[in-house]
Amino acid sequence: MNPILSIENLATSFHTDEGRIQAVSNVSFEVHKGKTLGLVGESGCGKSVTALSIMRLLPKPSGIIDSGRILFQGMDLAVLPAREMQSIRGKRIAMIFQEPMTALNPVHRIEKQLGEVFQIHFPEMGKKQKAEEVLSLLNRVGIPNPEGCAKAYPHQISGGMRQRVMIAMALAGKPEILIADEPTTALDVTIQAQILELIKSLQEETGMAVIFITHDLGVIAEVCDEVVVMYAGKIAEKARVKDLFYNPAHPYTQGLLSSIPRLDSKRKSKLSIIQGMVPNLADLPKGCRFENRCPMAMGLCKSEPPDILQIGDSHWVSCYLFEKGNRNE
Ligand SMILES: Nc1ncnc2c1ncn2[C@@H]1O[C@H](COP(=O)(O)OP(=O)(O)O)[C@@H](O)[C@H]1O
Ligand SMILES: [Mg+2]
Repeated sequence: MNPILSIENLATSFHTDEGRIQAVSNVSFEVHKGKTLGLVGESGCGKSVTALSIMRLLPKPSGIIDSGRILFQGMDLAVLPAREMQSIRGKRIAMIFQEPMTALNPVHRIEKQLGEVFQIHFPEMGKKQKAEEVLSLLNRVGIPNPEGCAKAYPHQISGGMRQRVMIAMALAGKPEILIADEPTTALDVTIQAQILELIKSLQEETGMAVIFITHDLGVIAEVCDEVVVMYAGKIAEKARVKDLFYNPAHPYTQGLLSSIPRLDSKRKSKLSIIQGMVPNLADLPKGCRFENRCPMAMGLCKSEPPDILQIGDSHWVSCYLFEKGNRNE
């Protein structure tokens, strides 16, 4: 099946006081209709910058797409004129963010804010129909008292309800792609599970594709079909979710996996965490970016960055362990 979105060799950088830093390097992946692609990695690995590049919402003027293509329905979003991008952003491709409070206007009632979204996407819609659509959407995202919620100001509802309102706003334009950037990170575990369920069921209903961004591989297992593991702005590993969990190849993926708490584990011992930190993008090592934290590092890893290699059907890894001659099978 043809992908609905195809990212090819995306590179995005920022001009900062420390000079130019490349936050995303050579990132490629495809997103399919009705499927969920997970983007995972520790904080600072370039997940949000990848999403903001797709949405063309990079901070101006410091953030720039240097190269690569973002193909969506015959268009390259990386170079699409701003006006045309405006008709896609929020409508055909919508995004929800980690902290809904920053995206909602505190001085307007929910109904007004949602109504404005309908106004933008469907200017021909009458006032009465708009009000009905607002309530029906709030109902669809599982808000128990849609009328009450519509009349409320953002601070009058809970964090979980605010995130549902954000999802409602994102869905108003009937997007073909929903980008969810850590949508549950600020929520407690029970609410988190409810929001994940909601996104899944809305996806089944609408057939939209979802890009789900999280630092938590545990969440990936719940919702994703395919996974892209990012480390320091690059792809470390890319695989179908089953392959990633049963057959993780990159030492970074293995490290992330061993830090997920397991329900079936009788161990009371501390979870292993990956020692060390993501390198500073302004001062990157010459070789593999994970080298200084990698338990498997070899001499070669210090001198040159590894290429991305295909090691199975839809399974890719960027690691010298998988280069011919280095595989210990
Ligand atoms: N507005 C910005 N200005 C300068 N650098 C930025 C900006 N936003 C992000 N970066 C850089 O890009 C890196 C990746 O950021 P981000 O994509 O937000 O990470 P995450 O994977 O946590 O979403 C950061 O570590 C930072 O170095
Ligand atoms: Mg982020």
